[in-house]
This record gives sequence, structure tokens and C-alpha cells, in this order.
Amino acid sequence: MFVQKPPMGWNSWNTFGPDINEEVVMRSADAMVENGLLAAGYEYLVIDDCWSKRVRGADGRLEADPEKFPHGMKHVADYVHSKGLKFGMYSCAGPLTCARYPGSFDHEFVDAATFAAWGVDYLKYDYCFHPSTRRGEDLYRRMGIALANCGRDIVFSGCSWGVEDTKVWMPGTGCHLWRSTGDIHDSWASIKMIAQGQLADQIYGRPNCFNDMDMLVVGMYGKGHAALTGCTDEEYRTHFSLWAFLSSPLMIGCDIRNMSEATRAILLNPEVIAINQDGAGRMAFRIYDGNTGWNDPAQSFVLGRLMENGDIAIGLFNLADGACCQHVSTENLGLAVGTGRTLVLHDVWSGEDIVMNNEIFQCDVPAHGCRVFRAKVVEC
Ligand code: GLA
Repeated sequence: MFVQKPPMGWNSWNTFGPDINEEVVMRSADAMVENGLLAAGYEYLVIDDCWSKRVRGADGRLEADPEKFPHGMKHVADYVHSKGLKFGMYSCAGPLTCARYPGSFDHEFVDAATFAAWGVDYLKYDYCFHPSTRRGEDLYRRMGIALANCGRDIVFSGCSWGVEDTKVWMPGTGCHLWRSTGDIHDSWASIKMIAQGQLADQIYGRPNCFNDMDMLVVGMYGKGHAALTGCTDEEYRTHFSLWAFLSSPLMIGCDIRNMSEATRAILLNPEVIAINQDGAGRMAFRIYDGNTGWNDPAQSFVLGRLMENGDIAIGLFNLADGACCQHVSTENLGLAVGTGRTLVLHDVWSGEDIVMNNEIFQCDVPAHGCRVFRAKVVEC
């Protein structure tokens, strides 16, 4: 299968960690529909680690933990599907998952068949306990081949945290997305570290093999399994805008059964989602502002993306601890004065429209903040 756009959905890990069960999954499925998440494009509901029995069944197959999932996994999958959602699960390239449940090493084909029989549409595949004598590339390809031959379309989500040059070999394994970082935590420091670390790796992402910067922490506010200090709404907006710009999958990690209005407004912003999901699938570029390119570890930077309809998405990001003044020059965007064209900037967070009368637009961006525009090319 070909995955054209970064997958969108919800994953259980950030909030629930090991405390996952049928009730939580079903009520989260309800919430995805009732809160408008499905309608906005969040279609995958993914159960992460800790869903199975500690040992395989006598026939060598994985079995759901009967205390957590008393009606079995097919029942859960059917419920998720009945809501119009797609169903995702988790396994690992090693013999054990990261939380020490059975992994798929040497069981790739039987597990792919089990997942297909349950109606799984998405598999997150971790890298803990992988045998050191085997190359990661080959372990991911094993499962990639098994999934490609299991008789069902299953999005393959590799999770080797960017180690061993993941970005170079993952596209050849059958993975549709690859985790490029260690685990995110609900803190500004974690968001900033991931964002800065991934700027230079933009060139490795593409449709059908997206750079997965890890699940979103938007709306966690310091509560749940991956919680640390929590963040402000301004920081969550910046986080969401960055993940959208950099074509990361948008997998929500907060408790969607209890979202604040501010959280809903961020996660459901249709114009930010549209940047992430743009049909042209072009990667972001960095607009010259005195920086020296992708490897410049600047704390403030300006990103652009040429959209399918000819618009240009422009994001001014300030990860520093103080406010700063940032600018966009039409010349540096590729829109030289001689073209007779300028831009109308539509602010996707505030709704404000600004006509660029000068070649340079500049504005203040608060600490940990951003301004994101969808710019229309118009005659001067
Ligand atoms: C790893 C992954 C996380 C999560 C846990 C589950 O740490 O990176 O995203 O899946 O394992 O144990």
C-alpha cells in the first residue's frame, strides 16, 4: 500500500502507558467521533505496548490479556471499526517489547497473520531487545515482508528512535513512517529538543515514508504516563505547528475523553492540519534569514512549504526563552520583485489577513511561540 499523507490518530501510550484496557479504548473511540477528531482527519486509534498476555498461546500466537481485554482483540477492533475509525496495534522487532511482553522476533509471519485476522490497520513496531547479531534493517524488513503478504492493508510504523541511521535504511524496509527520536515527554524542553534535532533530517522524509517525531503531547498539561512539567497552550500550539510543518504523523497522546477547549482548538485547527496533509506532499524548506541552512542550530527559524494549490505556508518559530523579531523576505522565498507578485498572509491561528506591501514582513514572535501563515500569491 502507498501512504500518501502523514497518518493522523490517537495512541494510548502518552496518557495510559501500561494501564490500557477495553473500556479505555472504547471510550476513546467514542471520544474521537464525538469530539470531531475523526471528522478532522484523526482516523487511527492505536493501542501501544502492554496489551497481551506475558506468554504466547500453545499455538505460538499472541493473545490479548483477558483481564484488560475480556472480549478479545477482535471485539475491540470491530467496535473501533463500527465507529468509522481504523485500528492500530503494537509489537516489537525483538523477542520482547519495551515493557517486556512477547515481541515478534522470529514470529513475524504468524503475528502479521494474527493482526490481519483481528482487523488491524496500523502496526507500530518497536526496537527494544533486538538481537545485536542482526541488523535493524533486516529485522524491519522481515516484518515489512510479512505485512505486505498478510492479505490486509496495514500501515507499518517503524519505531527505532532514529538510531543506527534509521533514516537511511528504513524506507527500504516497507515502513511507511519511522520514529526519528527518543520518547517525547510533556515538557517544553522535550518538544524543543526534538524539533531542533529534526530540522536537518527534513530531507529524509517523503510521502509513503514519513519522519515520525513521536506522538503529540498537546493537552496533557502534566498529567499521564509521559507527563513531565506540562506546557502552556502557547507551547502546545508551537509544538503542533512544527509537527504539522515537518510532515510528522499527527498522533494525539492526551486523554481525549477530557479535552479542554484550548486543546480542541489546537488539535482541530483545520488550516494547520491542511498544511500537514497537503496533497503535494512537499517537504518544508528553510527560508533564509541569515542562517546557514538546515544544520544551523538556531533557536528561531522560518519555514516554508509550497502547497498543492500554489499557496505558500510560512511558519515563524521562536524556540528561545525571550521574544524575538523575525522576518520573511519575498526575495528569499523565490518571489523576486520583478515578478510583480506579492503575498497576502492569512494567519491560521488568529484569522488575521495581512497584505505584504513591502518585500519584507516582520513581526515579534513571543518566547516559545510561532506565527503561521497560509500565503496567497497575488499581483502587486
Ligand atoms: C518505546 C517507544 C514508545 C512506547 C514504549 C512502550 O519506548 O519508543 O513510544 O511505545 O516503548 O513500551
